[in-house]
Amino acid sequence: MHPKFFPSTHFISILIFLLSHHFPISIRCEDSPYVKCNFPVQCDDEVGKIVYPFWVDGYQPDYCGHPAFKLDCMGFKVTIEMMHGKYDVININYEAQILTIARVNEFFIKDILCPEQNATMDSTLFKYTSNTQNATLFYKCPPGFEHPATWKFICLKFGALDCAFFVLNTSLATELVSICGAGVVVPVLATAAQGFMNHSLAFDQVLKEGFEVKWTVEEGQCRGCAESGGRCGYNLSSSQPSCYCPDKPYSTSCPTLKAPPPIAPTPTALNSPKSSVVREIQIRMMHVTLLK
Ligand SMILES: *[C@@H]1O[C@H](CO)[C@@H](O)[C@H](O)[C@H]1NC(C)=O
Ligand SMILES: *[C@@H]1O[C@H](CO)[C@@H](O)[C@H](O)[C@H]1NC(C)=O
Ligand SMILES: *[C@@H]1O[C@H](CO)[C@@H](O)[C@H](O)[C@H]1NC(C)=O
Ligand SMILES: *[C@@H]1O[C@H](CO)[C@@H](O)[C@H](O)[C@H]1NC(C)=O
Ligand SMILES: *[C@@H]1O[C@H](CO)[C@@H](O)[C@H](O)[C@H]1NC(C)=O
Repeated sequence: MHPKFFPSTHFISILIFLLSHHFPISIRCEDSPYVKCNFPVQCDDEVGKIVYPFWVDGYQPDYCGHPAFKLDCMGFKVTIEMMHGKYDVININYEAQILTIARVNEFFIKDILCPEQNATMDSTLFKYTSNTQNATLFYKCPPGFEHPATWKFICLKFGALDCAFFVLNTSLATELVSICGAGVVVPVLATAAQGFMNHSLAFDQVLKEGFEVKWTVEEGQCRGCAESGGRCGYNLSSSQPSCYCPDKPYSTSCPTLKAPPPIAPTPTALNSPKSSVVREIQIRMMHVTLLK
């Protein structure tokens, strides 16, 4: 339409680009943690951008996140391993430091596999939120067993449908061990458990909704780093959080970034009319070469 329109926007972009970039630093830091950890990974729309303390194996270097927060991105599924168990990541709330996860491999076509293992959590890293409750599942209750505070459901065990009982009241669950044998403890969302008990949710939906854990590490440590313009990371050799800054890693925040290094050799020269003219000419010359 207007042939001149494109070169002029082009020129403005180049100008903005030149003024906002520090070539010597950018080039030197091409492989620095600051650069490498600056690209959040997204593999599932619902989970969204994955940032520190999480990192995605195969897409980011391990020093971009905490070692216990390694995520796997397979297809459109995000998973995390905790205490040898694998979980689907349903949601990450960075603000509240809450991770919503659900057990993987519990589903077999339409019938649900009976959970067989107690959920275990590394309590130094995660704790259940108040929305998460321990449900106990009993598989060996005697025939004809009934109790008003238990909920019966069917699941698959060794290829056969089995009758199971769901108990939310933990003191009742402790009492029932003498009648029904040891139970399996599964964390569930309180709302999902309520839904199951009032018959508005099926048991597989309760498990699919997952449960919430709050991560307890790195509270606040990363915020200071990010606010100072750094990228949070983890130094694997010192097992400490690290703050990757444009020049080098620091332990908590970037000290120099608030006063960026001068563009011209001396800060005063930047404001002198002569230097602006020289700079303008240099930019125009680059503009010409770039457009060629
Ligand atoms: C649920 O069980 C886990 C592990 O057995 C325990 O650490 C946690 O405190 C329990 N949570 C509740 C709400 O009872
Ligand atoms: C939980 O079960 C115990 C033991 O059966 C019972 O005494 C208690 O009232 C129950 N709690 C609730 C909230 O139902
Ligand atoms: C699960 O935990 C309960 C209560 O903590 C215990 O009684 C039971 O033996 C455990 N079951 C398995 C399969 O580890
Ligand atoms: C069942 O419980 C859920 C969760 O507490 C609630 O939202 C829903 O309205 C309840 N439905 C019925 C039929 O009571
Ligand atoms: C990691 O920590 C070690 C020991 O404190 C230190 O020598 C090294 O420079 C740090 N590396 C990074 C990338 O921060």
